[in-house]
Amino acid sequence: MADYRIVNPASLQATATGIFTHLGAPEDIAAEVAGHLVRANLAGHDSHGAIRIPQYAQQIAGGVIHPAARPSIIGGRGATVLVDGARGFGQVAAVFALREAMSRAHIHGIAGAAIRHANHLGRVGDYAETAAAEGLVTILTVGGAGPGVGAATPFGGAARFLGTNPWSMGIPVGNDDHPPVLIDFATTVVAEGKVKVARAKHEALPPGCIVDKDGHPSTDPEEFYAGGMLLPFGGHKGYGLALASALMGTLAVIDDATPTLAGNLGDTRTGADLAARGAGAFLVVIDPSAFGDATHYRDHVGRVTDALKKVPGAGSNTVMLPGEPESRTTASRKASGISIPDDTWDAIDALAQAHGVPMPATH
Ligand SMILES: NC(=O)c1ccc[n+]([C@@H]2O[C@H](COP(=O)([O-])OP(=O)(O)OC[C@H]3O[C@@H](n4cnc5c(N)ncnc54)[C@H](O)[C@@H]3O)[C@@H](O)[C@H]2O)c1
Repeated sequence: MADYRIVNPASLQATATGIFTHLGAPEDIAAEVAGHLVRANLAGHDSHGAIRIPQYAQQIAGGVIHPAARPSIIGGRGATVLVDGARGFGQVAAVFALREAMSRAHIHGIAGAAIRHANHLGRVGDYAETAAAEGLVTILTVGGAGPGVGAATPFGGAARFLGTNPWSMGIPVGNDDHPPVLIDFATTVVAEGKVKVARAKHEALPPGCIVDKDGHPSTDPEEFYAGGMLLPFGGHKGYGLALASALMGTLAVIDDATPTLAGNLGDTRTGADLAARGAGAFLVVIDPSAFGDATHYRDHVGRVTDALKKVPGAGSNTVMLPGEPESRTTASRKASGISIPDDTWDAIDALAQAHGVPMPATH
């Protein structure tokens, strides 16, 4: 018997929108968050897709996410903007901050936004894709650091101190319908959501992703949830990027009520919002036309990426562009549907039944 269902993306989005609406989100906010989650599934990042619906429902019930809250501008000058997420959905705060930075980048050439009082931002590559679709370059990070913060240990350490602190960069390529170069990853070997997915599927993790609570190597997702830790990727280099993420992400919280530097950024099911956990988000948007002819720049990026695709593969490998796995998976899943493991299906079904929302159509 299959241990997953294949669902139609549009009807999954309708189910998620219905659930979030019944949990108190206005229709537009519910649709935005649902759309974000479904795009994450389509891109192949199931760790940031429908699996988050029960988590967000739990966070709404616990008063962590205020589902009807709308972000606002509370500071900044010229090309900078400080956004208060009002403890609403992180996706809503991030899209708001991104749109502000995009319009300011069109004026000033470059613009930055910092976000406080947001919740989980989801798949951060989504924001870089949005900006790239309008010809803009983006650098975005969300991070936190401090004793007991997050689920990752620093390089050489054996205690939790860092979040998974992802970075995303998007660079538009050639003509408008070409997918952007998209760098989008956690600074840990795997994102915490991937541990969650492995646990839901009752699968082992690849070696080198986690250590147990005593710092010993492990592949068992249950060991992670028993006090284990995520390892930074690339040793001291990933650790450095993780710390930079935290220190730039907290630009938004420096004059806020003292960040606690406590809590558990990794366990987003129960934690308080990012700022309360000593974390925040920061993004920079660049308009290439500030530095020359934007069309020439995009053509140049197109020539580099075309040349990259001609680099001979090692063995049976081929060279892929960052962002290519996501655009390929999106194309195939739009046609074939999204796979939802039974554990996740059951959790969504319980919410749907409680609120009288139809479940997604299955293939
Ligand atoms: N909101 C948060 O707090 C948070 C925290 C951590 C991670 N995340 C999200 O989790 C998701 C997964 O993160 P991850 O670290 O597991 O990502 P990952 O290890 O799957 O890496 C994804 C990145 O690597 C690129 N890539 C993959 N294979 C490639 C290849 N063969 N050649 C070239 N490029 C390739 C992808 O295009 C993408 O840019 C991301 O979407 C991230 O935004 C979010």
